[in-house]
Amino acid sequence: MCQNFYDSFIRNNKPVQIVLGVFGGMLLMVILLAIFGAFRSHCDDCDPTTTCYYNVLSQSWPQTKCKMNLVKKSNKVCIEPLASSFTIHGLWPQLKDKNAILANCLDNNNPFDEEKLKDIKEDMKKQWPSVLIAKAGEEDKANKDFWTHEWDKHGKCSYQKEVEDYFKKTLEIQKGMNITQWLLDDQITPKNDAKYKLTKFKDAIKKKIGENQYKLRCSTLNKNGEGKNIDPIYLLDEILICVSYKNPNSILDCSEEVPGTGNGIVDCPSEFYYLADYKSFKA
Ligand SMILES: *[C@@H]1O[C@H](CO)[C@@H](O)[C@H](O)[C@H]1NC(C)=O
Repeated sequence: MCQNFYDSFIRNNKPVQIVLGVFGGMLLMVILLAIFGAFRSHCDDCDPTTTCYYNVLSQSWPQTKCKMNLVKKSNKVCIEPLASSFTIHGLWPQLKDKNAILANCLDNNNPFDEEKLKDIKEDMKKQWPSVLIAKAGEEDKANKDFWTHEWDKHGKCSYQKEVEDYFKKTLEIQKGMNITQWLLDDQITPKNDAKYKLTKFKDAIKKKIGENQYKLRCSTLNKNGEGKNIDPIYLLDEILICVSYKNPNSILDCSEEVPGTGNGIVDCPSEFYYLADYKSFKA
């Protein structure tokens, strides 16, 4: 009864409709601004010109990189011995927008210079090696190529404008975000004979960083041969953690806008392998 009265009152009353329309429009704007504001706060380093940057620290699981290399029958081989911890893939400056990677900043024409890394060379080899090499004995060349690539594509866009600062900073933040240790703290160790549940990983990582501050990425292994997506299995491949652009020691939320999928790399599904030994692993 009351409802009907209001309905007909509104339906037959133009001024009331206009007021409601304007009010509704304003409400929508407030909601949109709130959502936009929430996204902006995910990057604490917004340029005054509205460009908003953050960094992604990407750490790889070497066993998976090697397994995928075998499957792809590439002409590369894996380094020996293989690191038993996650290794750095890179520290990637990002634009806020989804998939807008900030890459190849040619205005920084500071070339890669390995000499500048001589003080941190041992840590670089341990924490940031090129896992794949052309052949045994070519580790140094592969490292140099890998680091040059990471500097040219990503480092030049970073807040750290000097080669040594960029690599040093990245080594430092990996020490503070040791995913291998975080998993170990929750009794999660690599194994070949059983899958892990995603929830188990989430529970372990939740004790260290927020749920929206990272992504777990898996590689897709097709059981029935290359190219046929029948009943694939998934191997934990990388963890991406979102950190501040200017101060990469501080972690940020970044639930939606992290790139890096494609080419068989996907957000990890509900079950996957955390490989212990790629050579003996039978899918
Ligand atoms: C991370 O933790 C593992 C396991 O304790 C350790 O072996 C490794 O050296 C640590 N890595 C870094 C970069 O501190």
